[in-house]
Amino acid sequence: MHDDIDRILLDEARIISGIDSIAAELTELYRNVDLTVVAVLKGSCVFVADLIRRIPVPLQLAFACAESYRQGTEPGTLDLRLLPHGEEVAGQYVLLVDDILDSGRTMEAIQKELFDRGALDVKTCAFLDKPVRRQVDIRADFRCFEIEDVFAVGYGLDFAGKYRNLPYVGALRPEVFNASLSGGA
Ligand code: IMP
Ligand code: MG
Repeated sequence: MHDDIDRILLDEARIISGIDSIAAELTELYRNVDLTVVAVLKGSCVFVADLIRRIPVPLQLAFACAESYRQGTEPGTLDLRLLPHGEEVAGQYVLLVDDILDSGRTMEAIQKELFDRGALDVKTCAFLDKPVRRQVDIRADFRCFEIEDVFAVGYGLDFAGKYRNLPYVGALRPEVFNASLSGGA
């Protein structure tokens, strides 16, 4: 798996120090309110596990399962399920956590849906941010790292469902992309 990585963008130590710095701000912000952290599956699973352990305030955790860009649907339309029940959102201060803010469509659509379901406030938190790729007017209220326009894998982020378990963030070797796109391994 490591052989498929062209170069390391963020090593483990750098990742943890980036998380520590936003966790301190989040701890102050959410010290005295009812907080629900909504983690977007699957990509944010590793990030959210490290993040919430650095926010020592009472909080609930829920998961959002978002299917977007499906065949036959308009870009930007979103089928959102909240797990386990969706009851953790109404009347709550919500921190919406995703792995990466790319076009911004996923985050924008989920944020709107959470307000529609009665959240008092929804702030966005992205592990990575690729601002040059943005297609909608959204910014992360909190983000750990801005990265250049490369396809990143590891620390939760996948390519074709794989590489989420890499402990660092790396850029995939172009041959791996191309082999996969042409139907190879
Ligand atoms: P957006 O709606 O275009 O912002 O897409 C966000 C989603 O696209 C993320 O949650 C990721 O699943 C995926 N994505 C975008 N860029 C990357 C990347 O560089 N590596 C892995 N997944 C990515
Ligand atoms: Mg994702």
